[in-house]
Amino acid sequence: QIIILDYGSQYTQLLARRIREQNVLAEVVDFNLTKADLLKYPNLKGIILSGGPASVYEENAYMVDKEILEAGYPVLGVCYGLQLITHLFGGTVEAATKQEFGKAQLVIDDLSNILFDNVPNSKNVWMSHADHLTTIPNDFYQIAHSDNSIAAIKHKNQNIYGIQFHAEVTHSEFGAEILNNFIFKIAKAKKDWYMSTFIEKAIAQIKEKIGNDKVILGLSGGVDSSVAATLVSKAIGKQLTCIFVDTGLLRKNEALQVMDTYAKNFDMNIKMVDASELFYKNLRGISEPETKRKMIGKLFIDVFTEEARKMSRDAKWLAQGTIYPDVIESSKEGHSSKTIKSHHNVGGLPEDLGFELLEPIRDLFKDEVRKVGRELGIPDKMIDRHPFPGPGLGIRVIGEVTKEKCDILREVDDIFISALHEADLYTKVQQAHVVLLPVKTVGVMGDNRTYEFVAALRSVDTVDFMTATASHLPWDFIDKVVNKIINEVKHVNRIVYDVTSKPPGTIEWE
Ligand code: XMP
Repeated sequence: QIIILDYGSQYTQLLARRIREQNVLAEVVDFNLTKADLLKYPNLKGIILSGGPASVYEENAYMVDKEILEAGYPVLGVCYGLQLITHLFGGTVEAATKQEFGKAQLVIDDLSNILFDNVPNSKNVWMSHADHLTTIPNDFYQIAHSDNSIAAIKHKNQNIYGIQFHAEVTHSEFGAEILNNFIFKIAKAKKDWYMSTFIEKAIAQIKEKIGNDKVILGLSGGVDSSVAATLVSKAIGKQLTCIFVDTGLLRKNEALQVMDTYAKNFDMNIKMVDASELFYKNLRGISEPETKRKMIGKLFIDVFTEEARKMSRDAKWLAQGTIYPDVIESSKEGHSSKTIKSHHNVGGLPEDLGFELLEPIRDLFKDEVRKVGRELGIPDKMIDRHPFPGPGLGIRVIGEVTKEKCDILREVDDIFISALHEADLYTKVQQAHVVLLPVKTVGVMGDNRTYEFVAALRSVDTVDFMTATASHLPWDFIDKVVNKIINEVKHVNRIVYDVTSKPPGTIEWE
């Protein structure tokens, strides 16, 4: 495996992805690691130092224990990583008068260097740096340059490399070859990170860890908790009990579908708790979005905790579908990262429930979770589901939430989502849903005046859900959907399509 010391670059995760795509396990770790910590990685083949926004010559700059660099593992410093190596080995790094952002031509000086095997000379690479090397440390020599910078160096006797450019981004031509040369030819890593082997290993580990104990898990129907549940269930069968809370804020037939898929197909113990009345009752009279969110979150925890406590005489473990990006985000707090996403997940359970935690997919990225899910036989329809917020329809019924309004919204949403599936559009957009507005407008149906609610269709294209644009759905398609809704759903007589991007809009309306 390869470890990546994280100095806060926006590309750190991408580095890990690129390596995992080559079937080699890569893990992002804190830069504060000590030489003794390296023993935690018995299959360690190489170390990468990531990029980062800081300058190595600043007073509190993030460093690396030099012993780690000299521990005998092949090392590759990328951007800030290269500058850090330079700084620690006695070279100099200074603010550049000509900063490089974007494409730059890479000229290879040491054509026989193994890092550049099968890489043609004079290719474009992606640069993004304000500092640059002005003197190379004595023990190093230059192996490539660009117009404005020393682009790559190597230690004279050891396998320590540094590159100024970002080989991990696709804009770097032959970037993948350069990374692969480091991973396979220099670090000599083996291809042994496959989802099927992951499943075998994970099941064996769960069996060993859990023994004859009992485990509970909060199933939401989303991909992460479903994959975690299926994996644990394959390992220990009926020693696992899942708790599925019907908040009354789920989509049409959702509770049934979840029960059907998991209880029937996977023979899992699932305890469904119908708490919908409790949720509707407590949401009465509340219309402010954050107050609703907090109320829903609190009720969810109450209901789950009560069920879990009932079982806790027996159960020792709480399994959760925590995935790798969650782990990186939370471990970064106060460390190298400048941007921290706020996690507003209703499934976020308090730590003092008194269980030991079992997190079987905490090493996986989202698309790896999906691959594992498919291999485990979870139906595509479940795996490809768009994200659904923890507070559910509670934040899609704008203003006060009632059962009646949720019922109307469920029908409209179901027509829209089913139509997207039928038109083969569902997997082409990243998130689609309907919002019910607390507004009535006048319409006409037959010879009669109507005075009913407005519903808004929302569909977005996005990579990371941090920014998004409205999907350009075909007009004919929208036309058909609108017709069907107006004809079939009582109490809605007008549909609008939300064309706002994020920012300034958010994906949800509340
Ligand atoms: P926004 O509305 O912030 O949404 O653009 C970005 C993504 O996050 C989802 N979302 C939530 N997920 N609890 C969740 O678990 C929440 O309170 C919540 N609010 C928004 C939203 O559906 C979208 O995928």
